[in-house]
Amino acid sequence: MSQAIESTLHESRLFNPPAGFSDAIGGAYVGSLDEYRALHERSINDPESFWGEIAGELHWFRSWDRVLEWDCPDARWFVNGKTNLCYNCVDRQVDEGHGDEVAIIWEGEPMPGGKPEVRRLTYRDLQRETSKLANALKSLGIEKGDVVTIYMGMVPELAIAVLACARIGAPHSVIFGGFSAQAIADRVDDARSKVILTCDGSWRRGKIVPLKDNVDEACAKTSHVENVIVLRRCGNDVQWNDDRDHWWRDLTLAAPDECPCAPLDSEDMAFLLYTSGSTGKPKGIMHSTGGYMVYTYLTSRYVFNLRPGTGQVYWCTADVGWITGHSYIIYGVLPNRVPTLMYEGAPNFPAEDRFWDIVERHKVTQFYTAPTAIRAFMKWGDEHPKSHDLSSLKVLGTVGEPINPEAWMWYHRTIGAEKCPIVDTWWQTETGGQMITPLPGATPTVPGSCTLPFFGIDAAVVNEQGEEQPHNSGGLLVIRKPWPSMLRGIYGDRARFIDTYWSRVEGMYLAGDSARRDDRGYFWIMGRIDDVINVSGHRLGTMEVESALVAHDAVVEAAVVGMPHEIKGEGIAAFCTLGPGYEASDELKDALCAHVTTEIGAIARPDVIRFANALPKTRSGKIMRRLLKSIASGEENTTQDTTTLEDFTVLAKLREEKEG
Ligand code: PRX
Repeated sequence: MSQAIESTLHESRLFNPPAGFSDAIGGAYVGSLDEYRALHERSINDPESFWGEIAGELHWFRSWDRVLEWDCPDARWFVNGKTNLCYNCVDRQVDEGHGDEVAIIWEGEPMPGGKPEVRRLTYRDLQRETSKLANALKSLGIEKGDVVTIYMGMVPELAIAVLACARIGAPHSVIFGGFSAQAIADRVDDARSKVILTCDGSWRRGKIVPLKDNVDEACAKTSHVENVIVLRRCGNDVQWNDDRDHWWRDLTLAAPDECPCAPLDSEDMAFLLYTSGSTGKPKGIMHSTGGYMVYTYLTSRYVFNLRPGTGQVYWCTADVGWITGHSYIIYGVLPNRVPTLMYEGAPNFPAEDRFWDIVERHKVTQFYTAPTAIRAFMKWGDEHPKSHDLSSLKVLGTVGEPINPEAWMWYHRTIGAEKCPIVDTWWQTETGGQMITPLPGATPTVPGSCTLPFFGIDAAVVNEQGEEQPHNSGGLLVIRKPWPSMLRGIYGDRARFIDTYWSRVEGMYLAGDSARRDDRGYFWIMGRIDDVINVSGHRLGTMEVESALVAHDAVVEAAVVGMPHEIKGEGIAAFCTLGPGYEASDELKDALCAHVTTEIGAIARPDVIRFANALPKTRSGKIMRRLLKSIASGEENTTQDTTTLEDFTVLAKLREEKEG
């Protein structure tokens, strides 16, 4: 990340919201920086009245007694209120007379030369299908509070699955379809989940990802799973276990199409989502119902300026397997009654203009993607976006990692034609919703900065004592007050929850990022402070990858660090020492890469593997990660051929002498 920081330190270009933006978007909710500041101040000084008012825009079966009870680190929002996420996403739109409007537009992966497959689901379709699936789950004994694991491709039934769970108060745990059988088994075990929803396969670049095979393999590694529900998507052959497996279609055809939304307590767990941390084991981040609903609803509305009934089409390119997909494909968008587009496949298949073709055909108005994708588009060439009419676009968003100013400028010019505000949104799985972000009609933007905190967010850059740092000096990014969609804990691990987020700086939520503020007070994210790397906007713990590597017979010890990567932002560099009888070779590198893919998934596949006869360590035996990082990024000279065993001990000694 150091190059990115270097280039952003001198960034001073300022872009005001484009003239005419408010008219183009049907009226900006927040129209100036002054308006933002006044509202932000109110939201911080009187959060109860601010959030109470917003919550009142949604449906509650029973209103709350108090907006907030805060006993750090435990928050209860909308205390004793009863509501339902699925009701607010779906049934409410039907009840208010919008049942026949489009809720989800789905683009399937087209076959080369074939026409794209498009499906449009109305709110009424969603009401029927979520009811049927909810009844099917109940028929298998699933009750409120039971964790439902979902491991599917990007098909509309994935949205139906999460909403069906919300309907009956069964928290879902969605696992990204790129994860391996082992990763599924680990998550199922941790959540003690009895049921998995999956597909026979999913399409990606013309190939079938064998989801059901992975689930079978996962089930062999855990004893919790009693039922597996399988959606037919690709028609590939699958193994069948009569006692455990059910076709989605059979179950839902037989199920009644009415299932009232359960009135859930505002603090009932809505879902679990596993994410990486500093240790080897992913953590199950818990999100609750009411606060999450209110916060994702408002951020979606204001950050993208969603205006129902004005012909907008909103597209977030994330996978529902990540928090971005949960909050900004489904839960925050549907209550705003703007169609949300979901796509299956990859941005460069069947051709590198796929996204721009989708934008043109569906007249997408708000587009939300990751910097890694933007860098890939830049590389593929301007001719792809230039061959499409992108004039429908009004707001562009990015998320997941810092965006380098060069990519920002390309997005601004080539995709946005200099008329679309860019919202660079900083947030995390743990925060549930966007935390630091421009508002498109209000905030002047600077390439590379996520600018200012959203309403109700008291973000600061502090030192270990919790003291705010002067502008332009780096520090720890913290949130000093509770917010509605904050995580409620790590599933089954209270100690880790306290230790990770609440112990380093007293009374404040520690995000795990370092940041600085500039003279304007704008926030700049500088990178992680822990052993987490950000590969293409996906979070990976270095220890997870190390554990996978040492699980291979050949590897005795492994150290994994991030390294700069042109497209991915960060790549993975692995340094391994080998056991007796194993020799450094390209074949072994390939075998280790394949092994990590099997253990975790393709996103964890190392970009570089280097073999060492010993890892550089301090006298007290700690691996010198900083040294490995500078070796991986090419800053430290190592002249050897990297297929053979390298000796870093000399460098380590030199370093130790230099650094005392
Ligand atoms: O380091 C920050 C980076 O991604 C981390 C959160 O990852 P995850 O929980 O997987 O959620 C990603 C999608 C919300 C953060 O701690 N990050 C996320 N957004 C940005 C970012 N870094 C810089 N700028 C952003 N806009």
